[in-house]
Amino acid sequence: MLRVGMLTSGGDCQALNAAMRGVAKGLSANVEDLEIYGFLNGYKGLIYGNYKLLSSSDFSGILTKGGTIIGSSRQPFKLMRVPDENGLDKVEAMKQNYYKLNLDCLVILGGNGTQKTANMLREEGLNIIHLPKTIDNDIYGTDVTFGFQSAINIATDAIDYIHTTAASHNRVFIVEVMGHKVGWLTLYAGLAGGADIILLPEIPYDINKVVHAIEKRSKAGKGFTILAVAEGAISKKDAQLSKKEYKKKLAKSPYPSVSYEIAKKISDKLGSEVRVTVPGHTQRGGSPTAYDRVLCTRLGAEGAKAILEKDYGYMIAMVNNEVRRVPLENVAGRLKMIEPDAQIVRDAKLIGISFGD
Ligand code: F6P
Repeated sequence: MLRVGMLTSGGDCQALNAAMRGVAKGLSANVEDLEIYGFLNGYKGLIYGNYKLLSSSDFSGILTKGGTIIGSSRQPFKLMRVPDENGLDKVEAMKQNYYKLNLDCLVILGGNGTQKTANMLREEGLNIIHLPKTIDNDIYGTDVTFGFQSAINIATDAIDYIHTTAASHNRVFIVEVMGHKVGWLTLYAGLAGGADIILLPEIPYDINKVVHAIEKRSKAGKGFTILAVAEGAISKKDAQLSKKEYKKKLAKSPYPSVSYEIAKKISDKLGSEVRVTVPGHTQRGGSPTAYDRVLCTRLGAEGAKAILEKDYGYMIAMVNNEVRRVPLENVAGRLKMIEPDAQIVRDAKLIGISFGD
């Protein structure tokens, strides 16, 4: 008998179901006596023992379905060692629920925070396989995370739609793309959507340079400008602040997000209208793209293979276009950020895109 647990944690994305399906099919095609338990709503289900036995029919017809059939929630890593309101030791509770079900392995799908807890559970002696999920693409040790390509398409669509209306009205438009700490999604959607200015957390901007880029376009006869701005875009000045000071500043800000602050500043300096569009959580919704379906099927299959070989403690990653097992201890707690002088940034600058730096 092989007993496997699964959980999806953190912000959802389009391809979680596709990835779970890959693992489940990889296991059921090779093991007769198999039980798969889905812990409900992320680590919460593992902590409080909320789970359900999943049958093969649960994994049928979900390749194209967004969201997650077992639910998700955010359980911050930094609070995992803090007892809950009833004094429950969460880590001990997770271990007990794993042992109670006599699991051979726990498959954990999630982003950076989820991965840190997965690694902690590995250190605590559980058999763990992690699959790298996030639209942010910021997991260190894998070329790509699932959800990223699907989200690029949605954010690109948003920029495409703005393009036609921006051109009609001769306005400056900002499209705010998800990503607080890293700008991969903004960079790719910005390039794919033909944004004129791209502002990223990794490349602090100078508002005067941003305004200059808009003026340069006007002088060249272009009536409109589109900015792709990451949720975590930051000015050079603010980048000088400590994390704590910046958090405080944001908490006091009258603007709902950085894009509105940037819009106000541009508008004040140019005396013209600036409009902001925030596609928000639409970027995590809908069906996974064909790319993500293939990626998840491959990562899931390799996850199943590792379980069949009893080879645990890995993130299943894509490295140089090959699926690889990367030790969790080498990657947990590390972020994959854009290097400001990365080739893709240089390419973008070469064709005239401004990063406001
Ligand atoms: O899961 C990643 C992400 O979508 C980020 O891009 C975004 O900043 C954040 O989650 C939003 O979180 P929430 O869904 O909790 O509002």
